[in-house]
Amino acid sequence: MAKEIRIMPEPTLSPKQNTTEGYYTKKAASALFNGYHPVVSLAFSRRDFFIEGPKYVEGMSISGVQQKLSLVLNKNNELEIVSIGGEYILKPSPESFPFASENEQCAMALSRLAGINTAASAIVKFSTGENAYITRRYDRMEGRKLHQEDLSQGFNIPSTEKYSKSYEEALLLVHEMSGGKLSVVRDLLNRIVFAYLIGNDDMHLKNISLMKTDNNRTIYYDSLTPNYDQLFAQSFENKLVIGFLVLDLLKDENDGIFTKMYEKYGFYTGSDFLLLGRRAGLPDPAINSIFNNYFSKEQEMLSMINRSFMPDDMKVRATSKIKDRLKAIKIIK
Ligand SMILES: Nc1ncnc2c1ncn2[C@@H]1O[C@H](COP(=O)(O)OP(=O)(O)O)[C@@H](O)[C@H]1O
Ligand SMILES: [Mg+2]
Repeated sequence: MAKEIRIMPEPTLSPKQNTTEGYYTKKAASALFNGYHPVVSLAFSRRDFFIEGPKYVEGMSISGVQQKLSLVLNKNNELEIVSIGGEYILKPSPESFPFASENEQCAMALSRLAGINTAASAIVKFSTGENAYITRRYDRMEGRKLHQEDLSQGFNIPSTEKYSKSYEEALLLVHEMSGGKLSVVRDLLNRIVFAYLIGNDDMHLKNISLMKTDNNRTIYYDSLTPNYDQLFAQSFENKLVIGFLVLDLLKDENDGIFTKMYEKYGFYTGSDFLLLGRRAGLPDPAINSIFNNYFSKEQEMLSMINRSFMPDDMKVRATSKIKDRLKAIKIIK
């Protein structure tokens, strides 16, 4: 028997709009359910997910590392597990990463706050009460599948080499694959800065994709896909935090060459991102507006972390990460 659940609110854009716990904001409801009744049921437990789930995985077209299942919204307004034709992806926290779902939901909400086109997402509950992350598929349109390609495919290298290029090369590839659209290049630079800000040290080539609109028959991609798989990856308990970003920022780093500013500070500063943007062909104002957007939203971002579903210690780590990284980006020479 399906159990009706309430859906937790995503942190809203303004602290004043904070909602009663247990309901979607209007904006989130409309992004996830086209504004239809946003109350959905997960009729199965977390245990069912891990025990029964693998049966459905065959034929599922989504890859990635974390265990996940495809869902559709059926006629009874329930989320039902399917093998093909899924409209939603359910991605609970793995045993080894408690609160990964709450963490991802907050990171995605911040990505929206930053103005990045971001996959619609929320926290839902299993029938047994545990939280799970859910995202609506952005590559489905009236049953048809839109074409998307990740950057390891774009580079024509196997998935196992998803760490083998720099963000500089990724930006140049995106420039080429989009037919020279600087807006797409800027979008990716913004996402790289965002990943640095939140301490996402797992934005590898399979976590960046391009897509074509339905009627695009050319070889060029229209845009990046909405942002996905964003996490405060360095804010988990007991996680050994070493590097800064998972890919080299600049291509020279592969030969052991770092910028003077990096040598001086020991971490990336605004100067390094400015150089990256210039090498990707962006004019300075386009790059600086990325930084300024984050500077002007600092309080809103911190407030959103505070209102998120993450446990307090995770919030503390995420907050100090963002503050440190904002300071680093403010260093521009
Ligand atoms: N909302 C979405 N719509 C369509 N495809 C998605 C969405 N979210 C993720 N994907 C695709 O599914 C893959 C796996 O999802 P991801 O969140 O990256 O999981 P993992 O954490 O296991 O890597 C992604 O590489 C992307 O291609
Ligand atoms: Mg991924």
